[in-house]
Amino acid sequence: MKIILDCDPGHDDAIALMLLGSSDAFDVPGVTTVAGNQTVEKTTANALNVLSYLGLPYKVYKGADRPLIRSSLICPEIHGETGLDGFVFPPHGRREEETDARAFIVDAIRRSGEKVTVVTTGPMTNLASALLFAPDIKDNIERIVLMGGSVGAGNVTPAAEFNVFCDPEAADICFKSGLPVYMIGLDVTRRVLVLPEIVERMEKIGGKAAVMFAALMRTFNENQKKVFGLDGGPLHDPVTVAYLLDERLLRFEHVHTEIDIQGGISYGRTNCDLPGYLKKEKNSFVATDINERLFFDIIGRAIASYR
Ligand code: RIB
Ligand code: CA
Repeated sequence: MKIILDCDPGHDDAIALMLLGSSDAFDVPGVTTVAGNQTVEKTTANALNVLSYLGLPYKVYKGADRPLIRSSLICPEIHGETGLDGFVFPPHGRREEETDARAFIVDAIRRSGEKVTVVTTGPMTNLASALLFAPDIKDNIERIVLMGGSVGAGNVTPAAEFNVFCDPEAADICFKSGLPVYMIGLDVTRRVLVLPEIVERMEKIGGKAAVMFAALMRTFNENQKKVFGLDGGPLHDPVTVAYLLDERLLRFEHVHTEIDIQGGISYGRTNCDLPGYLKKEKNSFVATDINERLFFDIIGRAIASYR
């Protein structure tokens, strides 16, 4: 499966990268980065740190340093000043590529001999830009699999989830693209909390991925406790790649979803019409159930693959 991962590392993005590199089921032409949890300079440095530390060869392409329309938003409360606080990565000589993320996404998809699955775990700015500048790439995209949105409550405002709230217009472009959109939102990611006993279980596996996982997740949990009062942070982003490793993980409903881009109190809300009230075109597959045990088994297997 050919995959491009667009991310804003970010503690949970880092675990999504770890999952991506754990399986030879994936052919990864590159990883792109975007501003979100932190500035794009920091999310890019974090992606390079994680990939270098895990020994993953993926090239990194730096993307948008701000959303399409709205003002920028970062999240140091959860991810810290570096965007990946809690683990000191060893120095490496790797840098991002000269080509920017949008140009890479367009070129890689045009060149691909098979359809590409685009996974986003941050604001959807880069993918939306690529679709605006090169709509022809839709013919060679298998589907969009995003961590973002929520059928229910948000996590930045009562209405909106962070990735979509950071760039509602970008999400709107993606959901209206006509491509198959698989939305993995808070409804399922909030059910996979990386509780202390899970951190200990994964740490016991041993190896470099286990060391990184434990250190990052302990910091992630400290911040999740402070901000949300949670005993374990929701492992949002890895649910995307875990699903691609084993589609039994999630159940989806095919529904109409519309993003609120009006700019009012519900700006950035993903209005998922599960009951079908609006009788509008079903443009999205929304995750409504998750197998928690399977998820953490997938995480554990991935960590063990780096020993
Ligand atoms: O709302 C959760 C999402 O926002 C995750 O992708 C997390 O990394 C942050 O970007
Ligand atoms: Ca993210």
